[in-house]
Amino acid sequence: MSQQIKSFHFSAMDLYWNRNRRKFCRTAEYITQALRQNIVFSAVTGAAAGSCSSGAARKFVREQRKGVHRMYFRMQENEKAQWKAAMRWFYGYLKKYRWKIAVGLLLCTVTSVLFIVNPKITGYIVDDIIGDGRGISSRIHLLPRALIIMCAVTLLNSVVRFGYLWMFETCSQDTLYDMRDGVYRSLLQKDFAFYNRNRTGDLMSRQTGDMMAIRHFVAFVIYNIYENVLLFVIALVMIFSVDWRIGFAMITVLPITAFLSLKQAKELRPRFMHIRDCFSSLNALAQENISGNRVVRAFAKEDYEIEKFDRENAQYRDAELSAAKIWTNFIPIFEVLSSLLTVILMAVGGVMCIHGQMTLGNLVMINSYLWMLNQPLRMFGWLINDYQRFTTSVVKIYATVSEKPAIQTPQYPKKKNSLRGEVEFRDVSYRADGEPILDHVSFHVQPGQTVGILGATGSGKSTIMNLICRFFDVTDGAVLVDGVDVRDMELHTLRSGIGLAMQDVFLFSDTIEGNIAYGDPDCPFEKVVWAAKIADADGFIRAMPDGYDTVVGERGIGLSGGQKQRIALARAILKEPSIIILDDTTSAVDMETESYIQHELKHLKKETVFIIAQRISSLRDADLILVVENGKISEMGTHDELVEKDGYYRTVYLHQLGSVGLPAGKQPGRSSGEAAVDKAGRR
Ligand SMILES: Nc1ncnc2c1ncn2[C@@H]1O[C@H](COP(=O)(O)OP(=O)(O)O)[C@@H](O)[C@H]1O
Ligand SMILES: [Mg+2]
Repeated sequence: MSQQIKSFHFSAMDLYWNRNRRKFCRTAEYITQALRQNIVFSAVTGAAAGSCSSGAARKFVREQRKGVHRMYFRMQENEKAQWKAAMRWFYGYLKKYRWKIAVGLLLCTVTSVLFIVNPKITGYIVDDIIGDGRGISSRIHLLPRALIIMCAVTLLNSVVRFGYLWMFETCSQDTLYDMRDGVYRSLLQKDFAFYNRNRTGDLMSRQTGDMMAIRHFVAFVIYNIYENVLLFVIALVMIFSVDWRIGFAMITVLPITAFLSLKQAKELRPRFMHIRDCFSSLNALAQENISGNRVVRAFAKEDYEIEKFDRENAQYRDAELSAAKIWTNFIPIFEVLSSLLTVILMAVGGVMCIHGQMTLGNLVMINSYLWMLNQPLRMFGWLINDYQRFTTSVVKIYATVSEKPAIQTPQYPKKKNSLRGEVEFRDVSYRADGEPILDHVSFHVQPGQTVGILGATGSGKSTIMNLICRFFDVTDGAVLVDGVDVRDMELHTLRSGIGLAMQDVFLFSDTIEGNIAYGDPDCPFEKVVWAAKIADADGFIRAMPDGYDTVVGERGIGLSGGQKQRIALARAILKEPSIIILDDTTSAVDMETESYIQHELKHLKKETVFIIAQRISSLRDADLILVVENGKISEMGTHDELVEKDGYYRTVYLHQLGSVGLPAGKQPGRSSGEAAVDKAGRR
């Protein structure tokens, strides 16, 4: 894409004279920005790069520029709408605790008002107790009383301050608790397509870094903005009430501060967006590396991975630095402006005191109020900084949360308590990203039947299973379970009626018992053992040091592929579903174990079983065998029927018969090492 922009840029230079060059640069910049926001704009850049001849080209470019302008403004409108929606979403969580914020702000008001008292007393001490400073004043006895009041006010102030700090802190934790929960729930409802698009590390950073920015805003920024504005206004009112001329002198700095703070906010926003993107990428990379550490080591690619990480790391550092460059520029200016107030006071107030237009006490009092003016000015830059981080994070999280899953239970689903297990594919086609994956697939399975599916890798076998579970929706035709289109069913009813043992096994960080009983955690231990026995897992589980209490890692580290597959199978069986799907689940177990499992499964019999396998031995006893080739069902029938035909099935059958021989559906006997251990454990 950047190549296209370059060629567009160069052809723009050719096309226009010098006076138009600037406009072109601007247009190209818009396009760059548009592309940065992932709006594909190849038509504009490609066409502009292609056509270079005078008049027509000029007209073309003029129109394109208009189009880009329009698109750019539309983009900004969209951004604004997105921002508003994100803030509404955030407020939805905050709303529940708004009383805490109200109480907090009330207490905050009390402390701000209390800040008036001590400077007033200071002025009183200087003017009325100390007097002109020569000799002991006759009102010296009032000094201790004034000092006690000052101490009491300070004490009261700290108590009230504790109150509102606690309010905001609890409010932030409560809001975050709800928000984390909400985001997590929404993540669980996302469809497969969402997880295909988003990286785990990205999603993790929504739940960590972005949440922290929001917490910081609720716990710290809200009251700080309020308190600082209040202090500023109170201080100004007090100063004006003492002397309006000094008041006016003080507010001369305000327009400069306002202008600078707006400028800072505008410059920081896109940089914070970029920081969040870089942070997500860094997170995602680290997460992938940690998960894939075994592959990295197996290929001795540590240096390559470190280099990749260094690149992302440097990008993140640069993103942070580019934002820091902005705020480190602005914050000293805000500090200078706040210090300028002291200079203004000493200049104006000093002259007034010398001319007897103001008492020394008033000057000291105003000087004490000065920090109330200074503090907000000094904090302003920081608060804008934090506010921008907060809005960026809210927008980012909202963008993730607001993506509506394409797969949802319909508003008025057809009610069903349980499934019988009838499955029908009615002329089903499925396309992904425009590519045909399944093409006019039709078959009908009665409850209790066993269906075998054979086909080369990538032919579409898993996709057929995914459509039964409605992980994706068909593009054409319909998938019916018990005569009802899966799109009209409650997702929960459909999926809880299906036991799926997937191709790539995932085990939770839990005991083996916990993993097997995942679908029904309260089931008795005997049931776990029953399921494990059918899956031929009981033997090796008992042979482990802690048996069923052995904790397996996130990915079942410490177990062989075949062992993991058998635990996954037991997990699917334990659910006692109406439909069991074994998607290449026995690919990593030896043939004898596989035949044993097949044999045991047949005795369950009330389930409809789908077996995807590469070995004819796993499929030959099925009631119906489907052969999938390039997304189409090329052959369908029983083993005997398919062997008669001169097709893919027969070829595979003859090949396997010739090279490895088949156990011909006999009761399994054992010979391999692993199987021998299993047998010892099981029987
Ligand atoms: N959601 C998807 N998006 C894009 N391509 C997909 C998707 N699901 C499957 N495919 C593609 O469809 C083809 C069939 O995949 P799959 O059903 O997993 O094959 P099999 O299980 O037979 O090995 C593959 O080429 C795969 O890359
Ligand atoms: Mg597959």
